Amino acid sequence: MSESIDNNFHGQRVLLVDDDPSLLKLLAVRLRATGLEVQTATSGKQATSVIPRFSPQLVITDLRMAEMDGLALFSHIQEHHPGLPTIILTAHGTIKEAVAATNQGAFGFLTKPFDSQELLTLITKGLALNINALPNQTTAEQDTWRHDIISQSVVMESLLGEVQRVAQSDVSVYIQGESGTGKELIAQALHKASKRSDKPFIAVNCSAIPEDLLESELFGHRKGAFSGATESRQGLFETADGGSLFLDEIGDMSPAFQVKLLRALQESEIRPVGANTSIAVDVRIISASHRDLQQLISEELFRMDLYYRLNVVTLRLPPLTERLEDIPILAQHFITNSASLAKGFSNEALEKLVSYHWPGNVRQLKNIIDHICTFATTPLIPVNLVDNALQEKQATLLSFNDAKTNFERDYLIKLLQLANGNVTEAARLAKRNRTEFYRLLKRHDLKAAQFKPQK
Ligand SMILES: Nc1ncnc2c1ncn2[C@@H]1O[C@H](COP(=O)(O)OP(=O)(O)OP(=O)(O)O)[C@@H](O)[C@H]1O
Ligand SMILES: [Mg+2]
Repeated sequence: MSESIDNNFHGQRVLLVDDDPSLLKLLAVRLRATGLEVQTATSGKQATSVIPRFSPQLVITDLRMAEMDGLALFSHIQEHHPGLPTIILTAHGTIKEAVAATNQGAFGFLTKPFDSQELLTLITKGLALNINALPNQTTAEQDTWRHDIISQSVVMESLLGEVQRVAQSDVSVYIQGESGTGKELIAQALHKASKRSDKPFIAVNCSAIPEDLLESELFGHRKGAFSGATESRQGLFETADGGSLFLDEIGDMSPAFQVKLLRALQESEIRPVGANTSIAVDVRIISASHRDLQQLISEELFRMDLYYRLNVVTLRLPPLTERLEDIPILAQHFITNSASLAKGFSNEALEKLVSYHWPGNVRQLKNIIDHICTFATTPLIPVNLVDNALQEKQATLLSFNDAKTNFERDYLIKLLQLANGNVTEAARLAKRNRTEFYRLLKRHDLKAAQFKPQK
């Protein structure tokens, strides 16, 4: 056993559960030799009473035991000590039990006789997964606001702690995170955790609504305000009155609209298009963007004053690769929610998922699992199915925003090629004014000169 492992384990607490006392003794001696602090229990039942006293950071349990078996113990742990990693050992690794265990989210599974190194590797991973350093979970009822959010990583737990704290006030919250990291889900959770939870949560994607419609969409309009306005219509600010308004992709908002939004936020009132008077509104603003607003500000594409209005508190959603521990439980969650034959993953398949780079984050993970589920013919998903899905889907699985960005860039390149690098001409072809066109070029880091014909 290597020294680094000994040091890593020093003083960490592991509970060993097995109904075979001699095996228990042997394993305990081996594990203590690595620096671990080990307590033992000879039944699942006994383990349940040891856990609260010893508060282990990891449980290793035999599967087959009289009285309370490994799976029953694991269920107990899930319910009473969520987040406590559990490794299950079995003398007869039957597929059915392996499925049942992974299905419930057991973290590791080893078939006896196992290699010490294998067990140590699992222990290292298990200890890294432990979230028991966190305060005990509050009651299920108090936690409903976060029910849709599947996570066990320390970074997500600390983010959720922040969400709960800022939910108590009405400050504007800005959520920054890559595409597919769960920004909208966090915005919803923030609303649910707030005292506004019984009022509406309204989400608006600012990049999906054409610029000229955004104003009437948000502020409403009066009948006859513009051609096509045959009826007066309430804007989303009013619809969300008393609740929360989630402005998604605010980085894509035009400078002209930014001014209007800033005014509305400063005054806490909105003026519908074509109206003479303003209407007071009480909404909590949550905003998000997958783009770096600081960067947009430095490029003068986003107003600093609006930024400070929106961004009283920033919540940063880490990319999936910064919370690898979440991948197994997210993957399991998506399988469980599918109508598939599949119930869990082979260890190899799970490792593949954990080591992938996930440019599209949780959204991509969900798409991949959905895809895999339609092809699964066995309860345990084999690694080759994961391989195939990752290869096939990689190219096609862009988020809406990434696809849009790619399209925009390709389109601009094509225009510049057609116009031989002449910006006025390219802008004319695109039916955009020159200022706006320059801004687009800047956003994509394109230089018109590169497209001038070589002499
Ligand atoms: N922690 C999580 N637990 C369960 N589901 C999640 C989690 N995070 C994200 N999802 C799911 O992943 C998908 C993407 O989440 P969401 O739409 O909130 O992300 P986003 O950051 O707003 O993405 P985009 O940038 O593409 O708009 C949704 O189907 C959501 O339910
Ligand atoms: Mg979103």
